[in-house]
Amino acid sequence: MGPKIYKFGKKLIMRNLFLASKNKGKIEEYKKLLSTVNCTLLLQPDSLEVEEDGLTFRDNAIKKASEVSRKTNTFSIADDSGICIEALDGKPGIYSSRYAENDQKRIERVLKELDGVQNRSAFFIANICVCSPNGEVIIESEAKCYGNIISNPRGKGGFGYDPIFEESSTRLTFAEMNNVIKDSCSHRGKALKKIIPDLRDIFS
Ligand code: IMP
Repeated sequence: MGPKIYKFGKKLIMRNLFLASKNKGKIEEYKKLLSTVNCTLLLQPDSLEVEEDGLTFRDNAIKKASEVSRKTNTFSIADDSGICIEALDGKPGIYSSRYAENDQKRIERVLKELDGVQNRSAFFIANICVCSPNGEVIIESEAKCYGNIISNPRGKGGFGYDPIFEESSTRLTFAEMNNVIKDSCSHRGKALKKIIPDLRDIFS
């Protein structure tokens, strides 16, 4: 799905863009990726809680961005992402962050479920949504990154499922990549790259 853009009738006067997340690591990543967009990126207010109870990545991204925009009266951007494993019927999917209590245990659970399984195909997926200050969806983007789940984790970088996900074209795990390489092929990097021209347009 390519990015969708909805036109504004009014002249833009606000340059703030809330990132609908409380993750400080994520805002640093976004600041780098959005460095060519003339906006001020802010982390969502601490007092705001948005429940991720949608049935799809897209539903969750829309819910987060739309609620943050409506409550702050400001533009906002949200993403929802996860890993889908073919032999596990797409699991962990939207439950990627809740598949066990921490990253190590989540990796252990996946490796146990794939024990003896030949088909190791998997993909990461990211859905991104941008909302206008009234909560209307103005941009959407989705991207995937394909690879395989390896049996023995490799690499020291990254987070989450990075050490067990070997990306197809480089044969490196996400945990073996530096940020520049990961951004160029990751689901989130690709989804964000697609909408940068639209974001530049809005904040021009
Ligand atoms: P969220 O989109 O921030 O809610 O993240 C969902 C979950 O998916 C994370 O907590 C990770 O477990 C997993 N995930 C998403 N993107 C990545 C990635 O690039 N590497 C490793 N794990 C990821």
